[in-house]
Amino acid sequence: MTYKVPFVNYPAHYRSMEREIDTVIKEVLSKGDLILRSDVRDFEDNMANFLEVKYAVGVNSCTDAMTLSLVAAGIKRNDEVITVAHTFVATISAIVHCGATPVLIDVGEDFNMDMEKLEPAITPKTRAIIPVHLNGHLCDMERLVSIANKHNLIVIEDSAQALGATFNKKKGGAFGLAGCFSFYPAKILGAAGDAGLVSTNDKNFAEKIRLLRDHGRRGKNEIACYGFTSRLDNLQAAILNIKLKYVPNWIQRRREIVDLYNEGLSNVPGIKLPPPPNSDTRFFDVYQNYVLRVSKRDTLALHLKERGIETIISNPIPLHHQKALGLLHFNLPNTEQFAKKVISLPNVPELTDEQIEYVIQSIRSLYTE
Ligand SMILES: Cc1ncc(COP(=O)(O)O)c(C=O)c1O
Repeated sequence: MTYKVPFVNYPAHYRSMEREIDTVIKEVLSKGDLILRSDVRDFEDNMANFLEVKYAVGVNSCTDAMTLSLVAAGIKRNDEVITVAHTFVATISAIVHCGATPVLIDVGEDFNMDMEKLEPAITPKTRAIIPVHLNGHLCDMERLVSIANKHNLIVIEDSAQALGATFNKKKGGAFGLAGCFSFYPAKILGAAGDAGLVSTNDKNFAEKIRLLRDHGRRGKNEIACYGFTSRLDNLQAAILNIKLKYVPNWIQRRREIVDLYNEGLSNVPGIKLPPPPNSDTRFFDVYQNYVLRVSKRDTLALHLKERGIETIISNPIPLHHQKALGLLHFNLPNTEQFAKKVISLPNVPELTDEQIEYVIQSIRSLYTE
């Protein structure tokens, strides 16, 4: 189906940089620079600068960024890792893939890990915490880091949805041992396929990730450890290098769109809006997703679809209720409530003000008729 307002608009996004992207693709292919070439190194340097960290290592996805980070941190069978169920399944998969046990705690009103629940979940087996900075809003990293330090726990940030977001002026991905980023095409900075990155200030840890992403190969002949095929493609890095310079503008536009939506949807009964930009000065939010909590959620989704507006409902079945995952023993009331109420509206920078107004009027017509 062709939407009047698609959730993401890949063709329009590409057209806005067509010449630059075409040129770099041609250059890379003409040189045959496909695996771990200078574009990967440049992108890693550019990302380290952007995030204000010492090291950045390109990998093939955020899922692998987290798995490799857990492995590099020495997390193994019988270790417990605390995270949330209100996330993309990848956060939990990464824990399971390295043999550890996920311990899931509930989220608070901001959709992020409820810090009140964190300390009670710590046991003698707990080794690490994965805070998920959902929707482009960072967790309260002051409290999290102080609890982690008190209990000597490793922090690996799932920053897939939070590129450029800050807490007390520090970027997400710069607080823990590792920050894990996704450049899945729909992300704020999206590749032309899958891509990811690990950020860190720890030199040895960065070196371990470099080994793990490339089968432990060091120098010409040495295999330093068992590893994975999880390199960031050089072609993707070249495209990401072009796009990275636009990220601040794209974030700015996302924040403008939030203001327009929030203004247009204020005082609609049955709709809870996300906090506007600058409502809490400690946080700079990048709004990877614009998420409403609404009554009549499924009716709204259908109502908008009929009007050509694409929306997304993330995890309508909470992850701990997915039978195949073996997580049924967790009881997470907020996560379960949010699963019934959340809906994400289109908020990519390519949206026109007219499209945003159309979405607003379409929503108002359902709730105020
Ligand atoms: C919160 C979160 N974590 C992890 C991931 C996984 O990222 P990737 O698809 O790059 O593996 C995503 C991607 O959607 C995500 O939103």
